[in-house]
Amino acid sequence: MKAPRELWTSRVAFILAAAGSAVGLGNIWRFSYVVGENGGAAFLIIYLIVIAIIGYPMMVTEITLGRTTHKNPIGAFKALAPNTPWWIVGGLGVLAGFVILSFYSVVSGWSISYFFKTLGGTLAEGADFEGIFGEHISGAWGPILWHALFMLITLLIIGAGVVKGISRAVRILMPVLFVLLVVLALRSLTLPGAGEGIAFYLRPDFSDLTAQSILGAVGQAFFTLSLGMGAMITYGSYLSDNDDVADNGAWVVGLDTLIAIIAGFAIFPAVFALGFDPASGPGLAFITLPAVFAEMPAGLFFGGLFFLLLSIAALTSAISLLEVVVAWLVDEKNMSRKKAAVLIGVLIFILGIPASLSMGAAEINIGAWPFFDFLDFLQESILLPLGGLLIAVFAGHVWTAQKTRETANTNGGRIKIGVWYDVLIKYIVPIAIAVVMIFGLIDVFSG
Ligand code: TRP
Repeated sequence: MKAPRELWTSRVAFILAAAGSAVGLGNIWRFSYVVGENGGAAFLIIYLIVIAIIGYPMMVTEITLGRTTHKNPIGAFKALAPNTPWWIVGGLGVLAGFVILSFYSVVSGWSISYFFKTLGGTLAEGADFEGIFGEHISGAWGPILWHALFMLITLLIIGAGVVKGISRAVRILMPVLFVLLVVLALRSLTLPGAGEGIAFYLRPDFSDLTAQSILGAVGQAFFTLSLGMGAMITYGSYLSDNDDVADNGAWVVGLDTLIAIIAGFAIFPAVFALGFDPASGPGLAFITLPAVFAEMPAGLFFGGLFFLLLSIAALTSAISLLEVVVAWLVDEKNMSRKKAAVLIGVLIFILGIPASLSMGAAEINIGAWPFFDFLDFLQESILLPLGGLLIAVFAGHVWTAQKTRETANTNGGRIKIGVWYDVLIKYIVPIAIAVVMIFGLIDVFSG
């Protein structure tokens, strides 16, 4: 006999879990280097607009599809459009869960190891930060062991279940994360010379904006809000029919945005105060920040805190990625939750091994890409935008925008989804995603 499907025990449990999924490497590591590369404040404003007109409607859509069907993404589409190929959209999501988590876990492993490196004094003042980072990620055993540890923690939490595992973990981890981030932001804002960084982050110069940065804002919005692969369908599926969608979705989007904004206050004042380049790319968190911390009073302590925080944020995101795949096996294939968590956790760990090795220890390429970059390309340029596009088309045109909106408004709270939603989900959202996807692919293949 199969146990009845679990439900979140409270509204706060859902909000914390979904915000935990949204808040991750995307908010701190990815957000900071993307903002830094795109000139700061002007990009931030575009990003906030994209969050409002694309991010929020997609969030409402995914949560609604989950709450209505109480199913994993594949099951949800099968229930809403039986005997059609729409379940494939859910399948893309399950595949994306595999792909994203395999390299996400590798980066999370770097973060855990940097926590120890920082506290252990390896990243002290005068160290060769770039060299240490390069050496770390190109190591053979080290990064794989940290990746293994991170996947093990993730699968143990998921194996324990929605209430005992996910809920209990995020209830502790999310508040800790928030407090740590605020402490770091206060430290950064009070450094002598912080003002220039604050101006970079808050005083917009729209001549900095390019078409590319607008596309970057859409990509960042999807990744940071965990949209486009059914993670929010899955978390929404553990809501009861009496739970509201629009207010809960607003909480998740609001918390994710708040945390990204605070992360910017933790990072940019410090980067400028110590004379670093905010546009130094994906190395910003792992190369520049340790250097920043090393020059700060009590820097090793604050640096350790930062990587602890990054690891915690990554963990609450990773569990949502694994949950999508596990929910599919539990709902559709009648597998036990524990068995599914171990099986998928191990498979994702194995897929992460070549990703990790391709950072320098071994030459593992797919086409021109190291395996790691290939997985990243696959999720960023194909799986998430295609998934998001198809989810929007499904909700807007197949299930119909009116039906989705009315369903979202059933048992609603304060926020009423108005007809503006129909316009956004039918036209604006799919067109914007299609444009981003096409330009993104042209950009990649034109070198
Ligand atoms: N949103 C997370 C972050 O910002 C990553 C993440 C978790 C994710 N689940 C997802 C991204 C689902 C896309 C889809 O780091």
